[in-house]
Amino acid sequence: MFRFETAGESHGECLVATLTGLPAGIPISLDQIDRELWRRQQGFGRGGRMKIETDQVEIVAGVRHSKTIGSPIAIVIRNKDWKNWTESLPVEQIEDGDAKQKRVTRPRPGHADLAGAIKYNFQDARYILERASARETTARVAVGAIAKQFLAQFGCSVLSHVIAVGPVRLERAVTWAEIEALSHKPEVLLGCVEAGHESKMKEVVDEAYRTGDTIGGIFEVVAHNLPPGLGSHITWDSRLDGKLAQAIVSMQAVKGVEIGFAEEGSASFGSKVQDTIHYAKQQRHFFRGNNRAGGIEGGMTNGQDIRLRGFLKPISTLRRPLESVDLETRDPALAAYERSDVCVVPAAGVIGEAMVAIVLAAAFLEKFGGDSLIETKRNFEGYLQQVTDF
Ligand SMILES: Cc1cc2nc3c(=O)[nH]c(=O)nc-3n(C[C@H](O)[C@H](O)[C@H](O)COP(=O)(O)O)c2cc1C
Repeated sequence: MFRFETAGESHGECLVATLTGLPAGIPISLDQIDRELWRRQQGFGRGGRMKIETDQVEIVAGVRHSKTIGSPIAIVIRNKDWKNWTESLPVEQIEDGDAKQKRVTRPRPGHADLAGAIKYNFQDARYILERASARETTARVAVGAIAKQFLAQFGCSVLSHVIAVGPVRLERAVTWAEIEALSHKPEVLLGCVEAGHESKMKEVVDEAYRTGDTIGGIFEVVAHNLPPGLGSHITWDSRLDGKLAQAIVSMQAVKGVEIGFAEEGSASFGSKVQDTIHYAKQQRHFFRGNNRAGGIEGGMTNGQDIRLRGFLKPISTLRRPLESVDLETRDPALAAYERSDVCVVPAAGVIGEAMVAIVLAAAFLEKFGGDSLIETKRNFEGYLQQVTDF
């Protein structure tokens, strides 16, 4: 079974991940993983941390001579900031350790701080925020980059773009070619395919900087060139839409997910929402009048692109802090502030890509199996033939 786990604290030594269940023989490029890590760090509105870290992956197990060998893959990404935290987060207690801790006693509204401190019985929120931080998504993006390299073997790709930052929203549909062109740009501003909208988005982020505030938005992830039949209608937990929704909402600060035109569809008549079915007799294939379903019907891919959107709340740490309570005195106090991002919508899109790629890689392996890439490909090609002959 394909599965992954991550560990690591935001200011700890490193982030780690293990990834189990990929077949042997998949070509793996470290440069491609680093490129995804770089993309996660981009975007106008990022905080000082992104200037400190230039993430680079190390693979310490499961890949040899640039190919997977079928055994668990182990990944390490070192935190450059660790050198400033060795005495604050030591593994073993040190002399004067308590005094050297960087305590967080004024929990930030909107963060895991207060609920986590109560639940784990810590008198301050440091250990909670160290793990709740979206720094953890660095490990997810590295795993997702491997999943993407697996999917590429079958001609499938996953990318994202930004639809909205605050109130500025791109209302028109965006093509795969536009999203692909965006992904090759050497610089990332706000990840929107329309330059005019992107500069209006930048004005909103500028305002958040000026006023000590933060801003959220919407990203769209698109998975391209998928076969029909990934996922299944037969049980609640085999539905691909459910798995994708969990993967996206599990991302820090994502508060909602939309598959296809869910929001618009809920306000429309059925005749305007469903994607009509057609058949090209000469080419012998089915095609659809539109893709409002976002590529999934009955919990299965239908052969169209998957399109889903993640709704990101504004970052919880504010330079102009909100009201809170000091955990030591229980007196009213302003929430803690620690160097922080102001807008992360483009980065969230890249993390969303990783999560979608991971879910799709798992769905591929569930359907096609295989201990070696050759075996998986043989099963895949046999299925494609069956689809053509249908
Ligand atoms: C890419 C990314 C970067 C983030 N950076 C920060 C940050 O610098 N400061 C912060 O307070 N929250 C940041 N967040 C958001 C927090 O992780 C999130 O608000 C927090 O976990 C609470 O939200 P939750 O209830 O969804 O987990 C970031 C989120 C993402 C996706």
